[in-house]
Amino acid sequence: MTKIIAVLNQKGGSGKTTLSTNIARQLHLEKERVLLVDSDPQGSARDWHAAADGELLKVVGLDRPTLDKDLEAVKSGYDWIVIDGAPQLQKMAISAIKSADVILIPIQPSPYDIWACSDLVDLIKARQEVADERPQAAFIISRMIKNTILSREIREVIEEYQLPVFLGGTVQRVVYANSASSGKTPMDIDPDSEASKEVRQIVEELKYFIAEKEVFNHESIDYKTNRKEEDIILR
Ligand SMILES: Nc1ncnc2c1ncn2[C@@H]1O[C@H](COP(=O)(O)OP(=O)(O)OP(=O)(O)O)[C@@H](O)[C@H]1O
Ligand SMILES: [Mg+2]
Repeated sequence: MTKIIAVLNQKGGSGKTTLSTNIARQLHLEKERVLLVDSDPQGSARDWHAAADGELLKVVGLDRPTLDKDLEAVKSGYDWIVIDGAPQLQKMAISAIKSADVILIPIQPSPYDIWACSDLVDLIKARQEVADERPQAAFIISRMIKNTILSREIREVIEEYQLPVFLGGTVQRVVYANSASSGKTPMDIDPDSEASKEVRQIVEELKYFIAEKEVFNHESIDYKTNRKEEDIILR
């Protein structure tokens, strides 16, 4: 069964293209059949792909609101379809929400960024209500500052949405932008780097989320000292 993952957030620069290209590339490295769909008319994922010397994985541009129908026609050839979302909340996003099995929402750990995705969360919840809890949806923190922890205040703002948050996220690291400029990812530069580990953790959590319909157990985290969460996010 093809799994369709849509990376959405109408907030510009929240990390959609970085997350979707990295997830797609990691799945591809794991020998999965992956199609990366660029649903953004800006064409960033297509530019990323064009900057690579050889073909790392298949990328197509589908930037019409007929995305859900267009995907039906191509999806049988793939194990995974990863959609890089556009920075608007228009018909495109609605079409992506309709077609996706999982929505991942990258957010930077700032209250403004978190508040800015309330319309998206409303749309997802409205769809879940009529479509038997489909798509699954979760937040992924992007661009955490190294050696900091997600503060309780930020966590509380996120918790208001009542959507799960992945334990793994991305830390602010130049390798994400640098590798992208040549159509690559951290895993292509150094598979043992901290950034590569972050991406692998996200993909591992994604698979767990799909299989178990829940995220890794947050109960096990000691919120008082934050020690465990720090280990997980910054390892
Ligand atoms: N973890 C990270 N560390 C360093 N830079 C990052 C990280 N994540 C994203 N960036 C950089 O932040 C910028 C915005 O990220 P990205 O393009 O992924 O966001 P986006 O949500 O796709 O933006 P848009 O809404 O314009 O499509 C890019 O220059 C990207 O290289
Ligand atoms: Mg983008």
